[in-house]
Amino acid sequence: MTSAYDQARPVISSTGLFTPADSISNEELVASFNAYVAQHNAQHAAAIEAGEMVALQPSSVEFIEKASGIKARKVLSKASILDVDVMCPRFEERPNEQISVLAEIGVAGARDALERAGRDAKDVDAVLVACSNLQRAYPAIAIEVQDALGIEGFGFDMNVACSSATFGIQTAADFIRAGNARSVLVVSPEICSGHLNWRDRDSHFIFGDVATAVLVEAADFAPAGHWDILGTQLKTRFSNNIRNNFGFLNRTAPETRDSADKLFVQEGRKVFKEVVPMVGELITDHIARLGIAPSDLRRMWLHQANAGMNRLIAQRVLGHEASEDESPTVLDTYANTSSAGSIIAFHLNNEDLKPGDTGIICSFGAGYSAGSVVIRKAA
Ligand code: COA
Repeated sequence: MTSAYDQARPVISSTGLFTPADSISNEELVASFNAYVAQHNAQHAAAIEAGEMVALQPSSVEFIEKASGIKARKVLSKASILDVDVMCPRFEERPNEQISVLAEIGVAGARDALERAGRDAKDVDAVLVACSNLQRAYPAIAIEVQDALGIEGFGFDMNVACSSATFGIQTAADFIRAGNARSVLVVSPEICSGHLNWRDRDSHFIFGDVATAVLVEAADFAPAGHWDILGTQLKTRFSNNIRNNFGFLNRTAPETRDSADKLFVQEGRKVFKEVVPMVGELITDHIARLGIAPSDLRRMWLHQANAGMNRLIAQRVLGHEASEDESPTVLDTYANTSSAGSIIAFHLNNEDLKPGDTGIICSFGAGYSAGSVVIRKAA
């Protein structure tokens, strides 16, 4: 029998994934970057010789893999990213009548999630597009996704950088707890290649493109095989160590409109040092509050930014080095996909878990922000 509690109890019914067809290996990326460095240094040889300009340094495959664990990244626009004279994605501007590229990949991820749940779009009440970089100010990308899928109800965009998906899951779960919705799609389309400075040696290897979707629903409505949401917890603390100053006020200072801070910039070392303890504490507190021991965590689906960070976070939580089975990695082939990373990890690594198994989805990043979602496979 279904109780009123079941109606208000949020679960994850399914997830969806859209992966771009093209991938760039570290070797391809470094070859292009180093060709750019050689070209730049040759063009400015006299100024470098005179000490008026500093020569650019080459990148290295070994450094990238050792520092980050990233071996490749999926991208929507490979040729232009690798073209030394362009070094950023190229998307032809679309007329307003055509779906925008961000909504398009979001729809692909969302359709996958709907199909896996056997859910008809007509039964979905709301769409949240939760991601790091929104293509435009308005109308909301979420409303465009809603329209493309034929969903009634409402949609809006939200941005909490790399933590957007977990913040979106809590928002959707709260709608369900409050009885304001029964079925909510949380869509995270991430075109990180568009905000990455592919000419910056410190960060050119970090990001990739992808779209994920999470269908959050009321327990009594959800299909068999869903995941109960035992609890969600969010945390933010202001930091300038990951920042992107792109915005509509850039036009008010045209002299600095195209400077490097209008793309992703970070103090990677500081981020590493400050975010690891913040996330370790968040997860430890969260599971303790729910009465779950670290040894009861069957799997951790962590944000996918840096393999070393994930190793340390898992160690802090579990008290031992996590195996690939306990804390799976997808950043080796997907790179950092911002808010989508922990959802990809979950999507690709949950089918072997059994009813009663408990796990945690946790994302973290700019803000700083961190979100954790504790889930248990339903009987
Ligand atoms: N190729 C070769 N060498 C490079 C390089 C590259 N592409 N980029 C930097 N280096 C050099 C630096 O110049 C530096 O040289 P030095 O020691 O002579 O000064 C050295 O490598 C170390 O650089 P550093 O930036 O301190 O590396 P790191 O070990 O901190 O790794 C990150 C860099 C970005 C991979 C790492 O800090 C990180 O992932 N941090 C967490 C970031 C994160 O999670 N961000 C969230 C984003 S949403």
